[in-house]
Amino acid sequence: MKINQLKHLYINPLERCNLNCKICYTKKTKFVLSNQEILDFINRYQEIQELESVTFCGGEVFLLKDFPALINELTKKGVFVQIISNGTIDRLEEIEQSNMVNLIISIDGLEEYHDQNRGAGNFQKSITLLQKAQKLGFHFEIFSIVTKENLKQINDFEQELEKIFGKKIVVTYHPRKPMSYLQKHPISNIVGRVEGFNFLDKEEIKQLMSKRQTFPPKDLGCFQVSLMSDGQVYGCCEGIRPIGNIKSNSEEIITSLKNRLAAWDDKYYGHKCAGCVEKDFVCGFSSKKG
Ligand SMILES: C[S@@+](CC[C@H](N)C(=O)[O-])C[C@H]1O[C@@H](n2cnc3c(N)ncnc32)[C@H](O)[C@@H]1O
Ligand code: SF4
Ligand code: SF4
Repeated sequence: MKINQLKHLYINPLERCNLNCKICYTKKTKFVLSNQEILDFINRYQEIQELESVTFCGGEVFLLKDFPALINELTKKGVFVQIISNGTIDRLEEIEQSNMVNLIISIDGLEEYHDQNRGAGNFQKSITLLQKAQKLGFHFEIFSIVTKENLKQINDFEQELEKIFGKKIVVTYHPRKPMSYLQKHPISNIVGRVEGFNFLDKEEIKQLMSKRQTFPPKDLGCFQVSLMSDGQVYGCCEGIRPIGNIKSNSEEIITSLKNRLAAWDDKYYGHKCAGCVEKDFVCGFSSKKG
């Protein structure tokens, strides 16, 4: 088992969002984790396991009034923080140690396409935030959802980013979650608009995974203890069967995650990839029905 993943936690404090993207797959539930609940969970985890970084996602975390205070508390403890955000809410000045933060901003391609999904003016807003972040010394990279329509724009998109930021920007491409994912996921299962945002077919996904950095990565290994806004803990950010909850003993959570990986190894013994904690799901790429 690649034990390094245990040094990272993934936390979704809320699902609420300021945008209403046409192809977003997540349900906008009302659950919200408080800073205290999050810090208690992290502190208990750190009692038994070395922790290097925490990745926050949502919903939109910058909607939370006290979110910058949570980041500051963690970076003061030496924990590196990653934030997945749509980049339309600027709270950068409230963050004290920019060099301890990696902003992962979602940009879905060139301006016209991005704004079709995320709403007019939002491409420029997110780019402006990233330009400011660059000046302030934040680390940053980009997540980008891929459909049939923007697949062919990827080279132009990367060139445009290089022009804007004066350097190559790391982009992780997310094939639009396939129907097989949406049909199996109990919570994140919103289909959204298809016209103008068609799902990639298997061959296109395979090609994309072989040529670019993607999520999930082609060799998997994308598991990590993941706390969701409803207090359930999964073995990865796309998990469908909990391995514990916010009150569970951290050792038990880690043992459950290791058991999931052992089950993967049993199923795919000899397979060279780094494994998945949802062997019958695999983000909708499993061949198993149901
Ligand atoms: C649910 S969002 C939450 C964070 C933030 N609101 C944002 O948009 O970056 C997390 C990531 O999922 C991506 N995403 C949203 N809908 C998707 C879909 N249908 N397929 C694949 N990725 C998707 C977003 O682009 C983002 O990078
Ligand atoms: S993709 Fe992100 S910004 Fe868009 S609606 Fe979903 S959570 Fe909000
Ligand atoms: S379900 Fe498997 S492939 Fe998908 S994110 Fe989780 S560990 Fe990775």
